[in-house]
Amino acid sequence: MKKILFEAGQDEVKLVSVKSLDDLFDSLATDIKYCVLADRKVLDMHNSLREQIKNKNFELYEISNPEEEKSIDSYTNIIDFLDSKSFKRSDCIVGLGGGAITDLAGFVSSTYMRGLNYVQIPTSLLAQVDASIGGKTAINYGKIKNFIGTFYNPSTIIISPEFLSTLNEQEFLNGFAEVIKHSLITSENAVNKLIERDKKIRNRDSETLLEIIEESIQVKASIVTEDFTEKGKRKFLNFGHTFAHGIESINLSQPILHGHAVIIGMMMALDYSKHLESIDIDVYEKSMKLLKSFNFDFTNIRLSSDEIIEAMKSDKKNTNTINLVLLKDIGSPYILEETNEERLANFIRNFIENFEQ
Ligand SMILES: NC(=O)c1ccc[n+]([C@@H]2O[C@H](COP(=O)([O-])OP(=O)(O)OC[C@H]3O[C@@H](n4cnc5c(N)ncnc54)[C@H](O)[C@@H]3O)[C@@H](O)[C@H]2O)c1
Repeated sequence: MKKILFEAGQDEVKLVSVKSLDDLFDSLATDIKYCVLADRKVLDMHNSLREQIKNKNFELYEISNPEEEKSIDSYTNIIDFLDSKSFKRSDCIVGLGGGAITDLAGFVSSTYMRGLNYVQIPTSLLAQVDASIGGKTAINYGKIKNFIGTFYNPSTIIISPEFLSTLNEQEFLNGFAEVIKHSLITSENAVNKLIERDKKIRNRDSETLLEIIEESIQVKASIVTEDFTEKGKRKFLNFGHTFAHGIESINLSQPILHGHAVIIGMMMALDYSKHLESIDIDVYEKSMKLLKSFNFDFTNIRLSSDEIIEAMKSDKKNTNTINLVLLKDIGSPYILEETNEERLANFIRNFIENFEQ
C-alpha cells in the first residue's frame, strides 16, 4: 500500500494505492461508521468485495444503473437510508464505482447534515484519473447533466488498478483519453513517457497503469489546486472538450463514450491550432500520432458538421464567443475566444469531410 498526500483546492487529499483488492479498505479508520454506495455490477465482477464489506460491518447501498440513478429520486432514497441507519456528521460515505457513482456519493456526502466524511474508490479509469479528482460533485436534473452539484473533496481516494481488468477495451480507452489530454497540456516529457510505455499500457500491465494513474492525478490535482473554482487555468482541462460537447450533443439518441468524443475534439483542436498557425508542424504531427496510436473505435459516432456547428453555437452559455482551448506547443495550451464563427464553421466542415472513421 502506498500513500501520497496532494492538495486539492484548500484541502489535503490522501491518495492510497493498493495492488490487491483484498487490501481495499485497510487504510480506513476503524472507529467510525461507514456506508458504501456501490455499483452493483462492480460488486458482481469483483466478488470478494461484498464479503469484505460485510466483515467490516459497513452498511451497503447498491446501485444498479449508475448514470440513471445519479438523480434527485435516488439522492433522496440514499438520504432516507442514511437517516434510517442514524448516520451522523462524524460518520463516512464511501463511493465505490465509476464517475456516476463518485459524483453521486460526493453530492450526498457534501449535503447530508451539511457534509460528512467521504472516501472515493473509483473503479473505472475515467473515474480514477478524472471524475474523482477536483472536488466536483453532481446529480443530473431531468435531462440536464450535472445540473445540481457542489465542490467538495473526499478525505481519501483509494486506487487499485485491479479494477481495470474488468473494463472492456473501449471503456478503458474512454478513460485513457483523459490521460492523453493531461499529457498534452502538461509537457513533452509527459507525452514521451506515454509513448515509451505504449505496449505495457495496451497489455494493462498493473504497475504501469498505477504509474500513469498517479501521474495523471498529479496533473489534474495541481491544476485544480491553483484554480479550484474554474476561473482560470482549470479551463485548460477543457482541451478538446468544446468540440467534443458539440459531437456528444448530436449523438444523444445513441449516446457515445465521452473519451472518444474528446479524442476527436483534441484532433480538431490540434488541427485548428495548425490552421491558425499557432503550432509548429512537428509538434502537431507528434501529438496527432499519439492520438491515433490507440484503438479508439469511432464507427458508431455520428458526425454531421452543420449540426455540430449549431450545437457549439448554442453551447456558448453566457458569452458571445465560442471558447476553445488550443495549443501553442505540447504543454502550452491557450484559450481562443473565437468570434469568427464563419472561419470556425468552414474549418469544421473541412475537418469532418476528411475525417477517417
Ligand atoms: N466530477 C467530475 O469532475 C467528473 C469528470 C468527468 C466525468 N464525470 C462524470 O463521470 C461519469 C462518467 O464516468 P464513468 O464512465 O466512470 O461512468 P459510470 O459510473 O457510468 O461507469 C461506466 C460503466 O462502467 C461500469 N464500470 C465501472 N467500473 C467498472 C469496472 N471496474 N469494471 C467493469 N465495469 C465497470 C459501470 O457499471 C458503467 O456501466 C459521468 O456521470 C460524468 O458526468 C465527472
